[in-house]
Amino acid sequence: MPAIVIVGTQWGDEGKGKATDLLADDVQYVVRYQGGNNAGHTIIVGDRTLKLHLVPSGVMYPHVTPVIGDGVVVDPGVLLDELDGLVAQGLDVSRLKISGNAHLIMPYHREIDALTERHLGRQKLGTTKRGIGPTYADKAARVGLRVQDLYDMKIFRQKLDAALQQKNAVLTRIYNRMPMKASDIETEYAVYAERLQPYIADTVSLLHEGLEAGENILLEGAQGTLLDLDHGTYPFVTSSNPVAGGAMTGAGLGPKHIERVIGITKAYVTRVGTGPFPTELFDATGERMTEVGHEYGTTTGRRRRVGWFDAVLARYAGRVNGLTEHFLTKLDVLSDFGTLKVCRAYRYQGEEYEHFPPHQTAFHHAEPVYEELEGWTEDITQITRYADLPKNAQAYVERLEELIGVPIRWVSVGPARSQTLDRSVA
Ligand code: GDP
Ligand code: IMO
Ligand code: MG
Repeated sequence: MPAIVIVGTQWGDEGKGKATDLLADDVQYVVRYQGGNNAGHTIIVGDRTLKLHLVPSGVMYPHVTPVIGDGVVVDPGVLLDELDGLVAQGLDVSRLKISGNAHLIMPYHREIDALTERHLGRQKLGTTKRGIGPTYADKAARVGLRVQDLYDMKIFRQKLDAALQQKNAVLTRIYNRMPMKASDIETEYAVYAERLQPYIADTVSLLHEGLEAGENILLEGAQGTLLDLDHGTYPFVTSSNPVAGGAMTGAGLGPKHIERVIGITKAYVTRVGTGPFPTELFDATGERMTEVGHEYGTTTGRRRRVGWFDAVLARYAGRVNGLTEHFLTKLDVLSDFGTLKVCRAYRYQGEEYEHFPPHQTAFHHAEPVYEELEGWTEDITQITRYADLPKNAQAYVERLEELIGVPIRWVSVGPARSQTLDRSVA
């Protein structure tokens, strides 16, 4: 079997870490293809909880080679800390491979990210302040430094000097900050270079050799479809392409290698940071969703905004990713909620939209058109077969499936690997 893409269908935090970990059971490679340590993927296996930011979610399995692909932005200090943390938990991280083409997050990227946000004031995006946007901006402007530059310090210094000339002007003249010193950064990054050396690989060749040998690849997206730079709720997005298309550019594969695209979809919707969110809840029901779902960010600890399931977004995600199936997560959170609402369309200026509106104004002012479904009161976290779910829980899943138009293959009823119902198994 060739490659499978896992992609978030909402604004991130859909449970991609859990799904990737589970599906990595029968693959040889798990590849992160975009984003950086803005991601926070939580995996729970037995009594062990892993919070991953840059390391792919297959890392728990000895048979998996975790790969950080070309499209990722790497903060080397953060990555090394994450690796140290995993080693301290008894994990073997020696199989990790990092593409030399991945771009480096530099100290000035983090600083400029934070300063830009501060200067935007009320207009801020609510970024994770990890330097993601400025790093991708430099990549597009062709003034970025890449992982491979760490292994030719002469080139590294040349590129750094050129970048700093411009960055220091911005830091000092626009933001009234101290300039950064090239020699300090060079010294810091030279240490990272030495420690990261064993992991650097030609990841494109590695993956293609794997495919040629009949091995399986799982491409793990970070963030989600609505945070995509091109297809998301711009400008309230991240600076990379989480959608399935991004998996190809970010890993160096082509469309013919991709066999399935699995959408990771929460049974309700959450969003961190600013930006429009039609089904957002501001009442006691929302409070309860946040608390029961533990909707606090893995990376920044920020409270996530919550809202009812939005079938318009799910339909859109089905299109722009070419989804073949969905992995529905956190159904257990909706137990005992009374009546559940599901947004089947939007209304704007008297018109109904079943599909994502092409103009941002319509989306910003979209009024959800809800239908109501009977809830269930039972705790469903211990259920192991789909057929054993309460009737109303099954009806909820099946109505979502109908509204989305793409099969829901898995239903997750808790954070552990074992709390997953595979509907293809009777
Ligand atoms: P990701 O960024 O998409 O990987 O998602 P996060 O890890 O940031 O957030 C999802 C959270 O929900 C994590 O804490 C998971 O452990 C947890 N989780 C995943 N699936 C389920 C589920 O089916 N039920 C419950 N209650 N929690 C889940
Ligand atoms: P995972 O992989 C949820 C959001 C930020 C902000 C916007 C831009 O765990 O699903 P950035 O730092 O990327 O420039 O911030 O994107 N964001 C996420 N929200 N989950 C994530 O990752 C996110 N990564 C970025 O909150 O609104
Ligand atoms: Mg997350």
